[in-house]
Amino acid sequence: MNASLGRQAETPHPYAIQRPDRIPVQRYFDAEFYALEREKLWPRVWQMACRLEEIPKPGDFVVYEIFDESVIVTRVDANTVKAFHNACRHRGVQLVQDRGSAPDGFTCPFHGWQWKTDGKCKFVYSPTLFEKDQLKGQDLALRECRLETWGGCAFINFDNNAPSLRESIEPFATMHDAWHVESLRTEWWLAARLPVNWKLAMEAFMEGYHVMATHPQLLPPGATAGPDTVYAKMPPELSPMSPFLTATTAPMPDTVKSREFIEMNLYYMRLLNEGMAGMTHAKDIRTAEALVDAPLPADMLGAMTTFRKMLNEAVVADHRKQGMDIGDLNDVDRKNYATSVNFCFPHYFLLPTFGSASSYRIRPLGPEECLFELWSLTRFPPGTEPPRIKTPTPMGPDDPRWPPIPQQDFSNLPRQQRGLHTRGFEFMRLSNQMEGLISNYQRLIDGYLAGQGYDKLLPAAHKVSGSIDVPVADLGF
Ligand code: FES
Ligand SMILES: [Fe+2]
Repeated sequence: MNASLGRQAETPHPYAIQRPDRIPVQRYFDAEFYALEREKLWPRVWQMACRLEEIPKPGDFVVYEIFDESVIVTRVDANTVKAFHNACRHRGVQLVQDRGSAPDGFTCPFHGWQWKTDGKCKFVYSPTLFEKDQLKGQDLALRECRLETWGGCAFINFDNNAPSLRESIEPFATMHDAWHVESLRTEWWLAARLPVNWKLAMEAFMEGYHVMATHPQLLPPGATAGPDTVYAKMPPELSPMSPFLTATTAPMPDTVKSREFIEMNLYYMRLLNEGMAGMTHAKDIRTAEALVDAPLPADMLGAMTTFRKMLNEAVVADHRKQGMDIGDLNDVDRKNYATSVNFCFPHYFLLPTFGSASSYRIRPLGPEECLFELWSLTRFPPGTEPPRIKTPTPMGPDDPRWPPIPQQDFSNLPRQQRGLHTRGFEFMRLSNQMEGLISNYQRLIDGYLAGQGYDKLLPAAHKVSGSIDVPVADLGF
């Protein structure tokens, strides 16, 4: 307990958040706090365990690990995916490791007991050597772990009393359903071992407020990071991808030249594509290039909305022409679902951009170490999907194989983790407008650490899983 916090009598656990826009620094390194998360948060949440294209055929499996838990996620048949705790029912050996294919089921390497992919035990050597009640069928079956699928991914939950996956991750799920997220496949997948607390890594992607200083190449043309450039709050029709637009304080030009305006849009699309090695996909850039001579209204607002609609339509048409499934992007815009960075509590992100996306997952490896994974996702014409992907070997955060934008994000993180230990640094000081998500998900964690019931946690979760750059919300506890 930290005596300086002063309100221990009212707080159920150390370092609970007392003021929503201030996050106590110990939450990012304290061993006791980390142990509490391990005990009270992670066993009760839906965790993205694998992408379904990792296990395309019956018998394909992937092992998902978190702390000491090891779970086999396996495809039983075309429509069934199951998860089992990865321990032999005889003497506990892990049945499988990493990933593979076991269409005939799992065989323990120690004494050769066997299980079908649906978890039923099918073979025990010399069963007469055992007391009968040691080998009861149901008891020998692999212990199942709760699993549900959504959005092209399998999610697991160790809590049999948790609400369904779908209920737990709204409105994130509905936002991406409209976009047909389940049709995306992995183009590439990279991982990094970061020397920072898992929450610190996540928070690097929970606000666009850092763009000006960390990604200056993404500033509007002619702008520099400084008082002349602002984060202006925008209505969704003007800035569908984010509630905030990075803009200069200089007045907008009265008349817009169509071609110049489209060239500028193309410039940003290419910049994002190079920066993320995807996200704004090359095929969507080609679609936009074909529109370069399209006439647009002369006013900025008209040009922005007309071009966005036109490009949305063209991207959808080009996808469907080649047999690729995609939602109606203008419908996605109309419902205000087109936000570009979206968080799914506790550790998953999707960054949809026109037809493609980037995606992140972050897992704790220790109080000050985490595993960060980045997928580049896109849609493929039927029959051209790439082969089954392999688990990436984690690289360092400064590895030159990282695309430029994640490299910029990673460059701050180890320095930030070290800065947190500095004498006199007590709390993160958040913008209650643009950094509200950091407060919201951290206070949802507090709800779990305080042992709240799902009657409280579920409505709170609905204020957390969705777009970034949102204000501090009242979670009801
Ligand atoms: S430990 Fe698995 S068969 Fe003995
Ligand atoms: Fe960033």
